Amino acid sequence: MLEDDGDEHKVLLEVGCGVGNLIFPLISDNLNFFIYACDFSSNAVEFVKRNELYDEAKMKAFQCDITSESILSEVPAQSVDIVTMVFVLSAINPKNFQQVATNLYHVLKPGGFLLFRDYGRYDMAQLRFKASNKIGENFYVRQDGTCSYFFSLKESKDIFESAGFEVLQNNFIERRTINKKEDINVKRWFVQGKFKKPKRLVFIYFFNPT
Ligand SMILES: C[S@@+](CC[C@H](N)C(=O)[O-])C[C@H]1O[C@@H](n2cnc3c(N)ncnc32)[C@H](O)[C@@H]1O
Repeated sequence: MLEDDGDEHKVLLEVGCGVGNLIFPLISDNLNFFIYACDFSSNAVEFVKRNELYDEAKMKAFQCDITSESILSEVPAQSVDIVTMVFVLSAINPKNFQQVATNLYHVLKPGGFLLFRDYGRYDMAQLRFKASNKIGENFYVRQDGTCSYFFSLKESKDIFESAGFEVLQNNFIERRTINKKEDINVKRWFVQGKFKKPKRLVFIYFFNPT
């Protein structure tokens, strides 16, 4: 899916880009993409813009709260081929999940893809939260005020399906966090999904007068 497609460039939207860990490797791989990168944090956006690989001809970084429809004032409706959202939805209040999915649906072209990865239910990070950090079902707040939600597969499926997406993949994946210096080697548990905005259905009516 992330392949160079001749001269025709693809449009990618990275939601919650942070410091640009996903977008800059794509740019340096010389893939023919135009990249929109947005984040709630204006500091993160400034950090991305200061990267030596930041090139306005190939990308546009901007501050945006993806829970609001303001994304549509920066990114035209139905203009994006691929949306990526990695460890971002978990930072958002669950009451806004559906609006986020709807906003992403609107910016995608029919036939476009949403690639999603986030914390899975009972990931090690959830098990380590103290009861005092719990602010809702499977929803926690850290000391720095940022939040973390932990998804079941049914939830990730329902959120995107309800917004109109077709589910192509929705699985738990296992990874390890390894830090030799601190003697950490633990299993992690993430939800990974690939969702597609269906192409419009075309109805063809044949009129046969005989
Ligand atoms: C855990 S970081 C992940 C950053 C990046 N996706 C990565 O994997 O390295 C979560 C990011 O989501 C951003 N974020 C949180 N709420 C957001 C919102 N409502 N709209 C846009 N970005 C948001 C945060 O500012 C933060 O940069």
